[in-house]
Amino acid sequence: MTTRNLSAPVLRLAPSILSADFARLGEEVRAIQAAGADLVHFDVMDNHYVPNLTIGPLVCEAIRPHVTIPIDVHLMVEPVDSLIPLFAKAGANIITFHPEATKHVDRTLSLIRELGCKAGLVLNPASSVEWLDHVMDRLDMVLLMSVNPGFGGQKFIPSTLAKLRAVRQRIETHQARGGQPIWLEVDGGVKTDNIGVIVAAGADTCVAGSAVFGSPDAGGGYATVMRELRRHAAAC
Ligand code: DX5
Ligand code: ZN
Repeated sequence: MTTRNLSAPVLRLAPSILSADFARLGEEVRAIQAAGADLVHFDVMDNHYVPNLTIGPLVCEAIRPHVTIPIDVHLMVEPVDSLIPLFAKAGANIITFHPEATKHVDRTLSLIRELGCKAGLVLNPASSVEWLDHVMDRLDMVLLMSVNPGFGGQKFIPSTLAKLRAVRQRIETHQARGGQPIWLEVDGGVKTDNIGVIVAAGADTCVAGSAVFGSPDAGGGYATVMRELRRHAAAC
C-alpha cells in the first residue's frame, strides 16, 4: 500500500551540484536546466555540522545568472541563522536546514520566509518526524535525508521509505485541514533502480547528485539520465 500524493503529479528533479564539475559550475547548471532539471540543489557544508566543506553564498550568487529555475539551498551548517540573509541576497529560492543545528527552529523558519524564500526542515535518517509537528504551518518543504549528510555518492538507507510514508501522511492530514502545500523531497542515493519506490512512498521532489553528474553530459547524458529517472518513477 502506498500513500502517494495524487495532488502532486509532477515529479521534481533536483540535481545536486555537489557532484558537478566545480571548475565549470556555470556551464554545469545551464546544462542541467536545459536537460530538464526543476531545481538546482545546492549543498552547503561547514566542516562542523558535517565533516566536509563545500560552497557558500558567493558561489550561489555566481551561478544565479546562469539559470532561471529555483536554487534549493540545503544548509548543513551550525549555527544557521547568520547565513540565511546572505543566501537570500545571493538568489536562493528555497532554504532548508537541520533542526538540530539551530537553537530556535521556529525563529529560523520565520527568518527564511521573511526574506522571501521558501523554508524547509531537513531530517537526518535518525531524526524524529516529530520535529515537524509544531511547525507544519511554517513549512514549504520537508527534506528527508536518505543518507547521513556530508558526502555524495552514498547508498540509499531503506528505512527512509517508512519515514517517507509517515511524513506524506502528516502532509496530507495537514492539507485536508486547509493547510498550505508542502513539498516532500528526498536526498541521498536516489538512482533509477530505487526512484520508483521512493516516489510511491510519497516523495514529490528527488535530489540526484552522482546519478546525474556521474554521467558525462557529452551526447546529451544529463537529459538521458533525467528522462530515465522520470520513466522509472512513473513506472511504479
Ligand atoms: C549529502 C547531500 C546530497 C548529496 C546527494 O549530504 O545533501 O545532496 O549530494 O548525492 P547523491 O545523489 O550522490 O547521493
Ligand atoms: Zn543535499
